[in-house]
Amino acid sequence: MRFRKSALGVAIASTSLLVGCGDPSVTESASTASIAEPAAVTEIVSEAVLSGEALVNDWMSKLTTEQKVDLLSGVGMALPGVSELPKDVNKVPGAAGYTVKYDELNLHSAVLADGPAGLRIWPQREGDDKTYYATAFPVATVLASSWNPELLESVGNAMGEELRDYGVDVFLAPGMNLHRNPLGGRNFEYYSEDPLITGRSAAAMVNGIESNGVGATIKHYVANNQETNRFLIDTLMSERTLREIYMRGFEIAVKESQPWAIMSSYNKVNGVYVSQHEQLLETVLRDEWGFEGVVMTDWFAGNDAVAQIKAGNDLLMPGMPDRSAALHEAAISGELPIDVIDRSVRRILQMVAKTRSQAGYEYNNTPDLAAHADVARQAAAEGIVLLKNENGALPLAADALNIAAFGRTSYDFIAGGTGSGDVNEAYTVSLVEGLQNAGLTVDSALEDMYRSYIETAKANQPEPKHFFMPKPPVPEMAVDRATIEAAAATSDVALVTLGRNSGEFVDRSVAGDFDLDSAELQMLRDVSEVYRAADKHVVVILNVGNVIETASWRELADAILLPWQGGQEAGNAVADALTGRTTPSGKLATTFPMAYADVPSAKSEQSFPGVRTSDEERIGLGGLSNGFASEVVYTDGIFVGYRYFDSFDVPVAYPFGYGLSYTTFDVQTDPVVIADGDRYAVNVTVTNTGEADGREVVQVYVSAPNGDLPKPKKELRGYAKTALLTPGASETLTIEFSGRDLASFDPTRRAWITDAGEYVVHVGVSSQDLRGTVRLVRDAEVVYDAAIAQLASSRPIDEIKRN
Ligand code: BGC
Repeated sequence: MRFRKSALGVAIASTSLLVGCGDPSVTESASTASIAEPAAVTEIVSEAVLSGEALVNDWMSKLTTEQKVDLLSGVGMALPGVSELPKDVNKVPGAAGYTVKYDELNLHSAVLADGPAGLRIWPQREGDDKTYYATAFPVATVLASSWNPELLESVGNAMGEELRDYGVDVFLAPGMNLHRNPLGGRNFEYYSEDPLITGRSAAAMVNGIESNGVGATIKHYVANNQETNRFLIDTLMSERTLREIYMRGFEIAVKESQPWAIMSSYNKVNGVYVSQHEQLLETVLRDEWGFEGVVMTDWFAGNDAVAQIKAGNDLLMPGMPDRSAALHEAAISGELPIDVIDRSVRRILQMVAKTRSQAGYEYNNTPDLAAHADVARQAAAEGIVLLKNENGALPLAADALNIAAFGRTSYDFIAGGTGSGDVNEAYTVSLVEGLQNAGLTVDSALEDMYRSYIETAKANQPEPKHFFMPKPPVPEMAVDRATIEAAAATSDVALVTLGRNSGEFVDRSVAGDFDLDSAELQMLRDVSEVYRAADKHVVVILNVGNVIETASWRELADAILLPWQGGQEAGNAVADALTGRTTPSGKLATTFPMAYADVPSAKSEQSFPGVRTSDEERIGLGGLSNGFASEVVYTDGIFVGYRYFDSFDVPVAYPFGYGLSYTTFDVQTDPVVIADGDRYAVNVTVTNTGEADGREVVQVYVSAPNGDLPKPKKELRGYAKTALLTPGASETLTIEFSGRDLASFDPTRRAWITDAGEYVVHVGVSSQDLRGTVRLVRDAEVVYDAAIAQLASSRPIDEIKRN
């Protein structure tokens, strides 16, 4: 009998349950194992020299069924104050999970850690003076705003190096859910409202991470677009919406990067928990898309371990004694057949066989944090979106050396969001520090006032409900007129920072979060009035994880810069942009609406964040997994983000794809489209017609002809970014897409289909700033991937339509 620690730190027995000798898998492929080393090296035991499939076959032949069943769950989780793991298991404190190891089989444990804005481990370890900081890179929303997959790959590469150097095998990132609603508490961990950007960004990130011999996990598959009741929510939508909008990014990432792992999500889709949904996990993921890696649950997800394994959810994380016991019982009774157990065990072993832990890699615990800080700074700069720039406000005039910084977050910049996506970085450069590093002088009277306010307010903050939860935000400091007037007398420009933070477990609210609160509005009004009276500019900096309301107050600012939550180097990156050392080249990957009420999923409670179907509260994990059974109905259907605003002519504050520059660009109005079979290449020349260096993003939107299915007015089908162009310089970009990329999913005909007719290809610099058009005629209907299996649907959904 072996003992191992359970999730809650209690030793549980893995009793000899049944097994084995008659089990065909036990002897399966011993004969196919090959020894890689020459026969002369006789001392080497065979396990030490086997690798890849041979090693997996060898393990499969030696593991008992009991051991195999144990492997289907992680070893449990160390939760401060709740549960512990033995020291020899918890090799990397702060890692979120480990797979089971068998020393006697030389089968090592894979170390799994969060993500996605950088590696999440504890910076301090008991009895150890060394620190284990990781780099806080810009959050996913920033990275997507770069519209530059190469940048994402380089950030992924730097993150992967940190995993490698800290002994972590598998990253629980990137996150790929959609910005369906701006209140989504974890939107900062996700890329966009659009599945193409999401899929491309994630694929680039995975490729960068995995180039280091460590794995990536795309998450949370699928439709986990909110935090409210996340453990229990049933997410109801049509199959077309599911496939075209919410699954599409995952499909792209699987096909373009074949990640080591996928994390299934907490929620149900159309009545079935995703982690227990065989069609989503086997039929779609593996049969249709060709995924070859491991599917793991999100932490503590679902309610039926046996159903999870049967559905093809290979690994149950973090590992819970009752779930493991249920698997053992089902293995004995035959409810969980050995071939189903073997299927998942083999996938887990294939992943473990690839790990550096298995290879005995001696990690150094000294990642190159200085080099990665440079990567973080460059990435933060590329994701900055310039929303407004009037009266020559930016870049700051060369003689504007004295800055007054208003808003508490100017001094306490938010690097990234909270929860499992929070990174333990060594420092965060605030806006004010970034300005000082750039040689600017910051009003010291204001600085002293803000710093002492923040210190007192933080000391008085109530403790969060749970160690994972954020503390409530420090309210904005009230600044009186006299203070503003004194600052205006001595400074050249006013910067006003507005900050927002959010994270796991809770969605944001409209009052005081999506909308500004009264203290913020008052500050903006007063600063604007006083500075404008003195003929000085006001620049607003949005240090936010996701979309906020801007339309009602934007007139108060001469310029608005959106650096989002730019990681630990954000202050330096913002100072670079303000001073013109860099030119902003980010574009919105998510629309800024005029008001929350304009968002298509904001039309009813039922559509976001859902309604309760039971009043009985589920309590679990010391408060971490509380919630109510509930359902959310995706009445917005495929009309998410710009697909809605543009199709239904709803005005927005800043459209999808939008972002200003310090220079101007000419985009060829008669782009050339070259067809090669079913592939298209759009060639478009961009010229820098202004006076600063800069980069432009060209976006290709396609309007499909009217067919049987209602279509959005246009959809993003490709994009590319120029290199840094000097004034007068040109570059011809080539943007490719295929016929299949233009197809819609027809649930009746069970296929992806393009109708015959005229397709209008637009090139533009936002979804509402189209510069050139080409018409493509497709003579006949084309049916792609015919005979796609029907996904179960609990009931017909009434979604909005457009004809
Ligand atoms: C989150 C995942 C995360 C996991 C492990 C869960 O609460 O939803 O994104 O990877 O915890 O920390």
